Amino acid sequence: MLFDVSSRHILGQRACDLVPCPGAQQVEERLRSALRTRHPFTERELNISLSDGRTITVNCTVLPLHHFEARAELLVELHQVDQQLRINREEQLLSQHQATQALIRGLAHEIKNPLGGLRGAAQLLEAELPDPGLREYTRIIIEEADRLQTLMNRMLGPNRMPQPRSVNIHYVLEHVRGLLLAESPGGPRILRDYDPSLPEIRADQDRLIQALLNIARNGVAAAGKDGALILRTRALRQFTIGTKRHRLVMRVEVEDNGPGVPEELRDRIFFPMVSGHHGGTGLGLPIAQELINQHGGLIECESRPGQTQFLVYLPLELEHD
Ligand SMILES: Nc1ncnc2c1ncn2[C@@H]1O[C@H](COP(=O)(O)OP(=O)(O)O)[C@@H](O)[C@H]1O
Ligand SMILES: [Mg+2]
Repeated sequence: MLFDVSSRHILGQRACDLVPCPGAQQVEERLRSALRTRHPFTERELNISLSDGRTITVNCTVLPLHHFEARAELLVELHQVDQQLRINREEQLLSQHQATQALIRGLAHEIKNPLGGLRGAAQLLEAELPDPGLREYTRIIIEEADRLQTLMNRMLGPNRMPQPRSVNIHYVLEHVRGLLLAESPGGPRILRDYDPSLPEIRADQDRLIQALLNIARNGVAAAGKDGALILRTRALRQFTIGTKRHRLVMRVEVEDNGPGVPEELRDRIFFPMVSGHHGGTGLGLPIAQELINQHGGLIECESRPGQTQFLVYLPLELEHD
């Protein structure tokens, strides 16, 4: 089942042909030495490429069997661990995000309060200044204070209560698509691959739009005008987000065929102020992550040159389930 081949095809094959991983020769060498020395060994998180192009991650245990006959045998156990690794990664992503969010909140409040005082004082000063030529300076103070205030507000996210109601995710995606087409005419093609059987989700529609727009805008920029962006929806049954198992989960995928997330940013794109663009704010993704987290969901990213996917997981059952 793991290799997706029948036993008839496997019997009689060489082990290293069956496991076409990068170090196939090494595998053969390890197996031979286990046979010779009769020492068991375990190899963790091996990547194996399957014949259909998929890569899976396994833990591998090799156990020499001691027979009285001359022929030695090895018992090789392959245990797929992708799911466990994904859960570990998600837990890390969530706790990382929570820590960042707490930091931002604390910092933003610390900055906002004195900023208000600063701006107020500059305004009073402006009114008192005898020489209008000096007002240029108070203007700068006020404008810069306003700019910082706007930035802080964006980092803090929406300050009204969420307004959950029944939302059709395809309406949300069509809305996002419309905005993107209007924003960048002559931009990449925006294709749709929707699962029409998806039920409505209880969510704050504006927040979903904002989150998906932040993700998709990056995709449009990455794909460029000759590229393509795909908006895809899928239902997943019995799926774990973070540590919580859900009966039904919706996955919204935003995929582009651009050059991929730069290697050096890959682990940090959900941190605020991390941007690969000159003049980028680096706030799009952390805000999107926060908005999706508020719905009990999570955003993940998988990226290589030519295929970048942002996967938005949202639980579909009601809160009291
Ligand atoms: N689809 C994508 N393809 C390639 N890189 C991406 C993609 N989405 C995000 N990124 C990278 O992640 C960075 C952070 O994105 P974001 O938080 O939206 O901030 P900003 O867009 O202001 O730079 C981007 O600057 C870019 O380098
Ligand atoms: Mg962005």
